[in-house]
Amino acid sequence: MSIFKKHIDAMSAYTPPLEGRDPKAYTLLDFNERTVEVTESVRQALHRFIDSGRLQMYPSYGDLTRRIAEYCGVADDKVMITNGSDQGIELIIRAACNAGDEIIIPGPSFAMYSQVAKAEALTIIEPQYTRQGGYPLQQVLEAVTDKTRVIVVSNPNNPCGTLVAPEDVVRIAKAAPQAAILVDECYFEYSKTSVKDHLDECRNLLITRTFSKTWGLPSIRLGYILSHNDNIRALLNVRGPYDVNQFAVVAVLAALEDKATSLAYVDEVMGVSKPMLETYLQERGVDFWPSAANYLWTFPEQPELLNGALVAAHILVRPKADAAGRMGLRITLGTEAQTRALIEVLEGVLGG
Ligand SMILES: Cc1ncc(COP(=O)(O)O)c(C=O)c1O
Repeated sequence: MSIFKKHIDAMSAYTPPLEGRDPKAYTLLDFNERTVEVTESVRQALHRFIDSGRLQMYPSYGDLTRRIAEYCGVADDKVMITNGSDQGIELIIRAACNAGDEIIIPGPSFAMYSQVAKAEALTIIEPQYTRQGGYPLQQVLEAVTDKTRVIVVSNPNNPCGTLVAPEDVVRIAKAAPQAAILVDECYFEYSKTSVKDHLDECRNLLITRTFSKTWGLPSIRLGYILSHNDNIRALLNVRGPYDVNQFAVVAVLAALEDKATSLAYVDEVMGVSKPMLETYLQERGVDFWPSAANYLWTFPEQPELLNGALVAAHILVRPKADAAGRMGLRITLGTEAQTRALIEVLEGVLGG
């Protein structure tokens, strides 16, 4: 007999296929990560910390929150740091919901939202994105009831890259003032679109962001929440005092010092690599979803064959089926050189 709640035992673990990934052996275009390493200054900051004789101490966060607030252009008391944005997502849902409440998670989407919702025994409402219509705005608005406690706007959404305009997010927030509107801006630096200027106007907006995708630091786990200061005060009651580790603090402070390097990478991905792959796919008649992020969800005729050729060429992408069961390949964009190499392998199969 299990000692745990029945619905927890009935769940299955969220286990993304992480094993065997080796950046020295493969070009990793499978997890929407940055495809180049962090700069020397970030590495040196971590080495200095290791050599500083402070590993036996609990972490202290100093002015990291202030530095992030400055980067985002919001007041310090509108920011809370978290252990990756996954923790931000979890804390928001846990703090807002009781078992049996409703959460609207338009699908398909990032697995973490429904993972937490299931653990909290919530009722999940899942209107579907479409390639033509994008975010199912009307269905989301119609699905709101007095039991709705969270509405997810993954912006842009993973895996399809769909972006919701800030005015539509505000519309949702105003239509459901009793619900937390969880706006996941994990890919913000790529999309350059945010609702952070609406935090006072809509006090139910909660933005999650991360240093995992643009900044090249998913291994050290640092995310943050932006929201009205009353919400931040409440969420600080649930986050542990040491949930963010000191390596994350050190690395992110150094990365923020050298913002230009990360933002130049974003420019290369969005300004060069992405248009190059889009043009190629269009030429070859391969369907893909319009995306505002550093990845494209593509639907070639023979996804398995293509995936096999890519693996053989030491390039990893992510097979992902759509709601109708059609298999696609979600491809992360990297540098211009990596994109050329990718297209060469694609052409080897699609060019015939
Ligand atoms: C939409 C979305 N949100 C959140 C995350 C998790 O990010 P983090 O590494 O900050 O937990 C991901 C990671 O793939 C994601 O795609």
